[in-house]
This record gives sequence, structure tokens and C-alpha cells, in this order.
Amino acid sequence: MAGFDSASPWSPSSWRSRPALHIPADYPDPAHLASVEAQLAGYPPLVFAGEARRLRLRLAEVAAGRAFLLQGGDCAESFKEFHPNNIRDTFRLILQMAVALTFAGGKPVVKVGRIAGQFAKPRSSPVEAIDGVELPSYRGDNINGMEFTPEARTPDPERLMKAYAQSASTLNLLRAFAQGGYASLENVNRWMQGFVDRSPSGERYRALAARITESMQFMASCGITPETTPALEQTEFYTSHEALLLGYEQALTREDSTRPGEYYDTSAHMIWIGDRTRQRDHAHVEFCRGVGNPIGLKCGPSMDPDDLIRLIDILNPQDAPGRLTLIARFGSEKVADGLPRLVRRVQAEGRTVVWSSDPMHGNVEKATNGYKTRPFERILHEVATFIDVLEAEGAHPGGVHLEMTGQNVTECTGGAEQIRAEDLSDRYHTHCDPRLNNEQALELAFLIAEKLAARRGGRMTR
Ligand code: PEP
Ligand code: CO
Repeated sequence: MAGFDSASPWSPSSWRSRPALHIPADYPDPAHLASVEAQLAGYPPLVFAGEARRLRLRLAEVAAGRAFLLQGGDCAESFKEFHPNNIRDTFRLILQMAVALTFAGGKPVVKVGRIAGQFAKPRSSPVEAIDGVELPSYRGDNINGMEFTPEARTPDPERLMKAYAQSASTLNLLRAFAQGGYASLENVNRWMQGFVDRSPSGERYRALAARITESMQFMASCGITPETTPALEQTEFYTSHEALLLGYEQALTREDSTRPGEYYDTSAHMIWIGDRTRQRDHAHVEFCRGVGNPIGLKCGPSMDPDDLIRLIDILNPQDAPGRLTLIARFGSEKVADGLPRLVRRVQAEGRTVVWSSDPMHGNVEKATNGYKTRPFERILHEVATFIDVLEAEGAHPGGVHLEMTGQNVTECTGGAEQIRAEDLSDRYHTHCDPRLNNEQALELAFLIAEKLAARRGGRMTR
């Protein structure tokens, strides 16, 4: 684009003069959209700037190799699946995975949900055709409806209000869980025990669970209990989503009252730029460069090292630790070839980033019965390769970014329960991409934990 200059003045609306992919332009009544955005701009922020800054500090620890990032949740949240049990189960799953990872890796785990705002989706095609009928694609519940009718597929600005309300009450429950005692280490350990007793691969993890129990008993006998030590009873939990629908993100962007001139997108603690909207001179990069939140940047096979460095120049010109998380999403077959040159270049340029692995988005395939799925083996293989590559390049494998749910769905094949293509129709509930279910996500966490423990020269099981 002519005249692009990352030093040009930024404002919460400066993205509007840039090309924007994957933002619907077919709202029938643009004035209605503008009035909803104006109303949202007067609503309370969902998070506050100090929290986003604290997450940056936590992520700076990840960048330095002293902590691990666990980011996960739905591919797309939906109005239909909005239920306290779903929120509880996702929260619980993240906590359980974090305990396994903390214990094995010997480092704190920074917990970030894809939750309380993860609605809008980039789609591979703007239209969908079924039996000769063509309609706009479903773009996420905050934009249009999934039902295949012209009415449902027409973007409706009122959906932004509903998404805001759902995000606010989801966040409210998450805060209560994180601080109200539900997240106590004793609870988490008890849930873990349940997994070990129930899962077909549970035997493998019995030893780790036993060591966690032993450590807790030891601490208790030293007088360190949830009653005496708040750290055992509370946890820090952060929210994140893809900053795709920029009108909504702009409406939630506020100047920090404690630091004039600094802007934060208060729709979530962390936001990320998708692999399809990371063009340097386009709207999504422009918007994200100006807000102080920690930013994620998806890096797929088409990312070239020069382009990556120029994006880092724009998104993190001061090289602030914790500001930028690079989320590699290559696919299990491409990661070993594609990732090293990016890591090497970032190292050579001396840039401070968190490297995280999204082993989901490069591993989608269509099962013979038409279901979109992801084989567990490929997901595991991509994370394992990611860890090996980062280590070989002398950088830190900082974290993982997963699509998963605490529900017992059948969306990804494989895992200890050996879900087969024929089983996918049993409980296939996702509104977009296939998610790891509760057991598969925990199993993955344990397998990553084993690999991290082996790096430390430690022994985890048996
Ligand atoms: C996503 O994380 O849901 C997504 C669309 O990922 P990507 O931008 O990496 O394709
Ligand atoms: Co997805």
C-alpha cells in the first residue's frame, strides 16, 4: 500500500484507512453497526491495563526460559454452548494441565484461555454452497449465525452486544474461580487423581500424580496449606482471543487513566493476529501495534524470515520482553523444515520473543466421512518437533497454543481412547475447528511434561 509508514501516528481507529481482510463488509445497515460500536465504547472495560501489563511481565519470564505458557480453549465460542459448566470445565482442564507441566518442567505456568471473547473467525471462503445454494460463510457468533439460511448468515450488529455480555459474564466466573478457592491445588490434585484412575493411559501417569500428592503432604506437614498460603488456593488466569473484528476491538480500546497516552484493548488481556491477517501494511497489524497488550502473531509456512523481522520491527520496536509471542503453526510435516530458519533469524537479530507452538491449525484433515478432524498423533508430533527445533537453535520452547474443551467431545481422532473416524459423529459439537477433548488435552500435557522433564535430566514416571 502506498504511503505506509509504521512511524505514522497511531490511533484506535487508524486501522480503518488500511485494507482489512476477513472483516465483513456486508452489514446491511452500517449506521446500526456504528451505533452499536458507539454504545460499546461507553461500556465498562472487560480487563484493565494493569492486568495486561502483569501478563506482559509473566510472558517476559517465558521469553527468558523461566516460565511456560499454556494457552487454550475453544476454536470459536458460541452463544449455544454458553453454559457455566462449559466455562468451569475448560478452566479446570487448563489448571490440571498446568499442574502437570509445572511439576515436570519445574517452572511456573502462565495460564491464558482462548475464552471470554474468542468468537470471530477468518474463513477460507467468504461463501458456502450447499446443494447449489450459495450463502455467506458463517463467521462466528458475534457476526452471523451458523444456520444455513439467508437471515442467519446476514451480519447482525446486535450480536456484538450479546458477545460483549457473554464475555463479561464468562470473565466474571473465571475471576471467581481463580480467586475464590476453586483453583486450590488440593482440588486440582483430586481432579488429576480422577484422570489417572479413569483414563486408559492413566497408569503411565500414576507415578507423577503420586509425587504431586507426596509433595503436597510434605508441604502440609511443614504447615504450608491453602489456608496458610494463598498461592496454593488462588491462581492467575488470563484471557485472549484473535483480534479479528477490529470495530469491536476499537470500541473496547481505552486510554490508560494511570498512564496517559498508553492505550489498551480492554476486550482481553492478550490478543493475537491470525496467520491470514498479518500483512504488514494492513489493518490488523496497524491496530495491534498501538495497543499495550501482549500480542501474539501466528506464523505459518508462508512466513518468511525477512517479513517476520519487519513485523517484529512494527509490533515490538522497543524489543520489550513479553510484548510479542510468536505462535508457530506449521503442521507436523512442515515444522522441521520451516521453523528453524525463523528461529535462527530472530536469534541472529537478537529479538526477545516468546516462542509458542500451535499444533492445531496446520494439522486439519477431512476424514473419509466428511468430518474435519485432527489426528492426535500429528498434534503431538508437531509439539515434539517444535521443542527439538527450539532447543537445537539455542532458544526456549516457551509454550503451547491449543484448541481444546473440557467436554467429552469426539472431534480429533486418536489419543488413549483411540477415537476413530467412525466415532467423530458421536459428539461433534465444535462451531469451527475440531478440539482436543478433556482426556486428549490432558494426555498431551503429560506427554509434553515428560519431554520437558527429560530435558531437565529429570525422571517423571516409572
Ligand atoms: C485460530 O487460532 O483459530 C486461527 C484461525 O488460527 P490461524 O490464524 O493460525 O489459522
Ligand atoms: Co481454529
